[in-house]
Amino acid sequence: MWAFTAAALLTAAAVSANANSCIVSASNNGNDDSPAINAALAQCSKDSTITFTLGTNYNVFNPVGANNLSNVTIYMQGNLHLPRNITSVQALVNASANTNASALYWFDLNGPRVNWLGTPNTTSGFIEAYGQTWWDANPVNGTGTTARPHLMRYNTSNAMMQYMKIHQPIAWNVALSGTNITVRDTFISAYSNSTAFPFNTDGFDVKGNHIQILDSTIFNGDDAIAVQSGSHDILFRGGTIGYQSHGMSIGSLGQDQSQFANVTDIVFDDVTVINAVYAARFKSWIGGQGLAQNVSWTNIRSYNVSFPIFITQSYFNQGSAQTQIENGTTTGRPNNSSVVMKNFRWENFTGTINSFQPGDGSCVTDVSGKTTVLEFERETA
Ligand SMILES: *[C@@H]1O[C@H](CO)[C@@H](O)[C@H](O)[C@H]1NC(C)=O
Ligand SMILES: *[C@@H]1O[C@H](CO)[C@@H](O)[C@H](O)[C@H]1NC(C)=O
Ligand SMILES: *[C@@H]1O[C@H](CO)[C@@H](O)[C@H](O)[C@H]1NC(C)=O
Ligand SMILES: *[C@@H]1O[C@H](CO)[C@@H](O)[C@H](O)[C@H]1NC(C)=O
Ligand SMILES: *[C@@H]1O[C@H](CO)[C@@H](O)[C@H](O)[C@H]1NC(C)=O
Ligand SMILES: *[C@@H]1O[C@H](CO)[C@@H](O)[C@H](O)[C@H]1NC(C)=O
Ligand SMILES: *[C@@H]1O[C@H](CO)[C@@H](O)[C@H](O)[C@H]1NC(C)=O
Ligand SMILES: *[C@@H]1O[C@H](CO)[C@@H](O)[C@H](O)[C@H]1NC(C)=O
Ligand SMILES: *[C@@H]1O[C@H](CO)[C@@H](O)[C@H](O)[C@H]1NC(C)=O
Ligand SMILES: *[C@@H]1O[C@H](CO)[C@@H](O)[C@H](O)[C@H]1NC(C)=O
Ligand SMILES: *[C@@H]1O[C@H](CO)[C@@H](O)[C@H](O)[C@H]1NC(C)=O
Ligand SMILES: *[C@@H]1O[C@H](CO)[C@@H](O)[C@H](O)[C@H]1NC(C)=O
Repeated sequence: MWAFTAAALLTAAAVSANANSCIVSASNNGNDDSPAINAALAQCSKDSTITFTLGTNYNVFNPVGANNLSNVTIYMQGNLHLPRNITSVQALVNASANTNASALYWFDLNGPRVNWLGTPNTTSGFIEAYGQTWWDANPVNGTGTTARPHLMRYNTSNAMMQYMKIHQPIAWNVALSGTNITVRDTFISAYSNSTAFPFNTDGFDVKGNHIQILDSTIFNGDDAIAVQSGSHDILFRGGTIGYQSHGMSIGSLGQDQSQFANVTDIVFDDVTVINAVYAARFKSWIGGQGLAQNVSWTNIRSYNVSFPIFITQSYFNQGSAQTQIENGTTTGRPNNSSVVMKNFRWENFTGTINSFQPGDGSCVTDVSGKTTVLEFERETA
């Protein structure tokens, strides 16, 4: 009874709300603000706004989210700080795995018309995830520290996200799903201050329809965008990606051999790629099935990139012999089929190929027989 009252008081103090507007305040004393954030997401779950105020630092020491949001705009002006204690986060990820959840999402936002409106302010409006210590904890040649959370699931429709700004993600940034979503002005930085690699720091993992991601700035150590099976009418346009990025990817497709991978009408256009491993990448698994149709990468400025164009139909996950088949076992692939690629276009790539690990950018031919000549120069060191 006492505990219940204390919790209610905490909530009342931390969220000031009227009928459809919640303002989240921070404890400012090192305490966990995630109960207040969850209270705001519950109280203002429908036809509401939720505001995190400019310059305020919030401690998000536990996962937050809601699965019943509807027509909610989140004004993200403050800074959201994840825990710096790896062990405590791993314990939560492990507990979540025991419930058979596919992943633990630190921010889990679900429902129609959920807007995230950040700020262009350069000192406020960031998610600070303290990934550096996780990258450093990954052993040399390891495949990522164990028990990492995903940063965000954002599953919505008829919505927009602007100025999503993230420093040092632990690993995967935004799992974006749904329909009719516009994302713009994203800023993600996974720069490592050591030799440790920011493993699995995907920018957007996309699965949905009618999604556009515009004018992104993404410096990371995995795909800036990975378009997954079940995606149709996706546009990634404008902006700059790089660092140790794996670029603009389709896939991986066909890992689950019992599923027909299906991806159509995907456009990557007008993007600058700097110092990355890949710029345009297609990856599917040997033994997979499906169709990837109408895919183009156009007007790509690719500087010092190892593999500006990369296609593999024998993809596997680095660091594991993972070769998943219908019954969930992981020993070998029963056939050598592959996901069909139809009507792919790579057009107007310019720039330089990384001089210490050059890729092959000479020329490609699409299925209709038209030849696209790609112009690359070896960088002179
Ligand atoms: C959403 O769930 C929260 C927490 O269970 C609840 O308080 C809230 O009333 C729900 N909102 C709607 C619109 O049903
Ligand atoms: C969505 O929520 C806003 C309040 O944030 C409200 O003014 C608007 O009428 C709502 N839209 C619909 C369609 O209910
Ligand atoms: C950016 O946010 C800080 C608070 O962190 C504030 O002091 C500053 O005025 C803001 N800058 C602009 C240009 O609004
Ligand atoms: C980190 O969290 C673990 C598990 O919750 C706890 O035992 C440990 O004392 C914490 N370490 C620090 C430095 O707070
Ligand atoms: C979480 O699980 C991993 C893998 O089983 C294990 O190595 C790690 O010690 C566990 N960590 C905690 C804090 O439970
Ligand atoms: C997890 O899934 C397995 C296999 O489907 C099932 O036996 C087990 O009860 C599930 N555990 C939980 C905690 O849901
Ligand atoms: C890491 O991998 C590189 C390249 O394969 C190898 O040269 C190096 O010895 C490995 N280091 C360790 C500690 O395993
Ligand atoms: C797509 O979502 C936007 C809101 O972001 C809305 O204005 C527009 O009407 C939606 N389009 C369709 C076809 O529903
Ligand atoms: C790298 O970042 C970590 C975590 O923020 C910090 O503790 C460390 O001092 C930094 N190292 C260098 C060389 O800047
Ligand atoms: C693939 O997706 C397209 C577009 O949504 C749909 O028309 C088609 O039926 C799908 N094909 C299969 C085999 O699922
Ligand atoms: C190629 O892309 C550049 C921008 O990267 C653009 O200025 C130029 O017009 C494009 N050329 C063609 C033929 O589309
Ligand atoms: C799974 O399928 C493979 C190949 O068809 C078969 O060899 C293996 O025995 C199966 N495993 C189980 C647990 O059913």
